[in-house]
Amino acid sequence: MALINETKMLLTRGAFGQLRAFHAAATLGQEAKIKTFKIYRWNPDKPSEKPYMQEYQVNLKECGPMVLDALIKIKNEVDPTLTFRRSCREGICGSCAMNIGGTNTLACISKIDTNTSKPLKIYPLPHMYVLRDLIPDMNNFYDQYKSIQPWLQRKDVAHEKKGKAQYLQSLEDRSKLDGLYECILCACCSTSCPSYWWNGNDKYLGPAVLMQAYRWIIDSRDESTQERLDKMKDKFSVYRCHTIMNCTRTCPKGLNPGRAIAEIKKLLSGLATKPAPKLETAALHK
Ligand code: SF4
Ligand code: SF4
Ligand code: FES
Repeated sequence: MALINETKMLLTRGAFGQLRAFHAAATLGQEAKIKTFKIYRWNPDKPSEKPYMQEYQVNLKECGPMVLDALIKIKNEVDPTLTFRRSCREGICGSCAMNIGGTNTLACISKIDTNTSKPLKIYPLPHMYVLRDLIPDMNNFYDQYKSIQPWLQRKDVAHEKKGKAQYLQSLEDRSKLDGLYECILCACCSTSCPSYWWNGNDKYLGPAVLMQAYRWIIDSRDESTQERLDKMKDKFSVYRCHTIMNCTRTCPKGLNPGRAIAEIKKLLSGLATKPAPKLETAALHK
């Protein structure tokens, strides 16, 4: 209780330096809990050196609970050359996606396995070109995302009061975007998909981008549905998905890109059609 009260007091004062020292002192005398992290390293400035796994020991008693906490601790206190992306540290930006203990996930929301008898192996997202250490090259992924034109498209914009009046959408139509709009484009799903590994280089769009495509296809306010579907009618864009569902199993946000792809296939094959909007979208633009 004394520790909690002291922590609250220091936080109220904004005394973070003191807080850190206080916690370090609080752990003194406790037995260290050493966890080994084996981390993939590759330095583009030393191209003749092959990638290798580097071991780091972290005392879990002096570290936050998440894998990102350990990576930041290693970078701050042991090895400033260790390179990885992160920003929000709360599962929102998608930048800390990596392969942790064999699963593609977000380092900031992955708890460290406290079993110290097993090392934790960390690699960059699989089957991507690596820029350095845990940083994959996302350019192809973002180009594919750009290719699906991820924005609202209307046919008659010249006669609509763009930016001056709302487009209407019924609650029922809005609910069709649930489970789609939450995607943070971390690429954990696409880089866990065997079809994307073999056909991802610009041919197969992969689960993340296809789910985003479906998000715009099914939006009652969007009027480019047919054009969007026509662009996917080739053999590769969608049909390289063989419903293995690795994507859905791995999504750290609990989304279901496999289902979204199945819905696109239904629309492409004519087994389903997009329903008309329940409300007149541009009613306020007259
Ligand atoms: S569907 Fe999930 S795993 Fe795939 S990019 Fe979006 S948030 Fe990441
Ligand atoms: S369901 Fe399709 S997109 Fe998802 S992992 Fe399998 S092949 Fe890839
Ligand atoms: S740091 Fe933003 S999702 Fe992990």
